[in-house]
Amino acid sequence: MSAASFTAPAPYVPLPARIAVLLSGRGSNFEALAAACAAGGVPAEISLVISDRFDAPGLARARELGLFAAGLSAKELGGRAGLEARICELIAERRADLVCLAGFMRILSPGFVSNFPFRILNIHPSLLPSFPGLHAQEQAVNYGVRWSGVTVHFVDSGTDTGPVIDQRAVPVLSGDDADTLAARILPVEHALYAAALAKVLRGGWRVDGRVVVFP
Ligand code: GRF
Repeated sequence: MSAASFTAPAPYVPLPARIAVLLSGRGSNFEALAAACAAGGVPAEISLVISDRFDAPGLARARELGLFAAGLSAKELGGRAGLEARICELIAERRADLVCLAGFMRILSPGFVSNFPFRILNIHPSLLPSFPGLHAQEQAVNYGVRWSGVTVHFVDSGTDTGPVIDQRAVPVLSGDDADTLAARILPVEHALYAAALAKVLRGGWRVDGRVVVFP
C-alpha cells in the first residue's frame, strides 16, 4: 500500500489525557503546556516529565510544580536502547496517553516511535520542511528567508519529518540574528503547542498519506 493511500484514524485518548513530556533543557515549552493544562485550555494533565539530562532546568521546574519528574542518563542505562526502554516503562507506569517532545535533544529510534503511532508530538522552531534539525533559527537567518515560524508535528522515524499538525509564520526582520529571531519565535511556540495539543485531543481527525485532516 502506498503511503498516499494509507488513512489512519486518530487514536482513542480518554480525557483528560495524560501527557508525558520529554525535554533536555530550559523547558519553556513544557511550562507553557503545563500552564495551559492547569488553566483548562488543554484537556490534559502532565503525568510525567522525563529529561535525559539531570541538570536540565526544565526538570527542576517540573519538580517545583510537584510533577512526577525523572532524570535519566543514557550512559548509565547502557545507551539509547536502555534509555528508550526505561522511558517506555515510565510511560506505561504513569499511564501516559501521549508524548510531547519539548526540546528533547535526541533522535528517537524507529522502534520507539512505532510504539506510539500518532501519539508523539514535537515542536520545531521553523516552518517545516524548511530548516529541520539543529539551529533552525540560525539556518533561517543565514538563508535569508523573510518568514520563518513554528511547526507542531507528529513524530515519525525521520528528523522533523512527521505529519504537520499546525504551523504559524513569524517574520524575519532585517538585522535579525539567530537570538533575536529565536526570541520572536518562542512565544509563538508556547501558544501554538498548547493549541495544537488541544486540537489533537479533540479527536475526529485522520491522517491521509501524510496530511492530517481535521474535522
Ligand atoms: C524550542 O525552540 C523548541 O522548538 C525546540 O527546542 C527548543 C526548546 O526550548 N525543539 P524550551 O526548552 O522548550 O525552552
